[in-house]
Amino acid sequence: EKGGYDYFMLKEIAEQPKAVSDTLLGRIDGAGQLHLDEIRIPPRVLREADKVVIVACGTAYHAGMIAKYAIEHWTRVPCETELASEFRYRDPILDSRTLVIAISQSGETMDTLMALRHAREQGARVLAICNTNGSTIPRESDAVLYTHAGPEVAVASTKAFLTQLVACYLVALYLGQVRGTKWGDEIQSVIGQLARIGDEVEAVLDTMEPVRELARSLADRDTVLFLGRHVGFPVALEGALKLKELAYMHAEGFAAGELKHGPIALIEKGVPVVVVVPSPRGRSVLHDKIVSNIQEVRARGALTIVIAEEGDTVVEPYADHLVRVPVTPTLLQPLVATVPLQVFACELATARGNEVDQPRNLAKSVTVE
Ligand code: F6R
Repeated sequence: EKGGYDYFMLKEIAEQPKAVSDTLLGRIDGAGQLHLDEIRIPPRVLREADKVVIVACGTAYHAGMIAKYAIEHWTRVPCETELASEFRYRDPILDSRTLVIAISQSGETMDTLMALRHAREQGARVLAICNTNGSTIPRESDAVLYTHAGPEVAVASTKAFLTQLVACYLVALYLGQVRGTKWGDEIQSVIGQLARIGDEVEAVLDTMEPVRELARSLADRDTVLFLGRHVGFPVALEGALKLKELAYMHAEGFAAGELKHGPIALIEKGVPVVVVVPSPRGRSVLHDKIVSNIQEVRARGALTIVIAEEGDTVVEPYADHLVRVPVTPTLLQPLVATVPLQVFACELATARGNEVDQPRNLAKSVTVE
């Protein structure tokens, strides 16, 4: 049932191109229009929404963080993303014009469920993004957009995360389409690129051997740090989470701009620092800034592992190890940039002799608060 792989996690990482394509299937037509009538929230309600609030836990929360960038950019509707376990304890401001999105692979995470119940009590509409048919979270929501990752067995989430991202992009683009924003042309072009993203994920998977080799060479380290900006920040958090749960290493993700506000004190000779670099096209300011950050940590002795777009030559002099990902629109980059981090964590865990599919102390779905 592991399909020839040693672990479910390896199989699930390899299944990502299909999982991503399956989640897009039937939702984009030949003319590049999105069809999400299945969520059965009337377009009028989507047009009138004045706020989006996303609740989720763990990896799903990282997908939600990325969704915030996409939703605010493409729709200009204010969006906040919050840990489900924090959300309802702070008396959040919700009403009938709030669209709440609850993201959950299992559909059974208790904190996420309690958050959505609280939101509905306040009159908000809740849309679930979920991978498990008929589970509790979609049953208790007003609407659901299913991800089609197929069953995810390994405790650490991989393919479910990528499909959560796809679902979030679909919702963000659909909101933009329904509401008609000034980004209409960009939305059209991104939909086209999203439709082909499965091939880009496949291309990343085909080039992972050097990443595995690098991971094995770091098996005796104590700490790995991850830096990102913009949507690369949640990717950094996700890379660190994978490493903690699988390799049991001290791993932390930071917004690169926060470095000088504290974390840079952690940099000492030889500490591996993984940096997720945004595209040099588009938001080039971001790129310039992160190149400075790479230089800053390298000057203090860090071993830099740089994840950068193909053709980005600017980063080359500062990268001890360079991992290439295909050219994508800035907001879609997490779909390709996360993959090397999953492979990295999985290989490090194996090299350290850990049980990859069943990490210690963890359960696949957390049905207690
Ligand atoms: C990390 C991981 C967890 C889950 C979290 C939410 O690899 O798997 O952080 O993402 O427990 O679970 P769901 O998505 O089922 O609500």
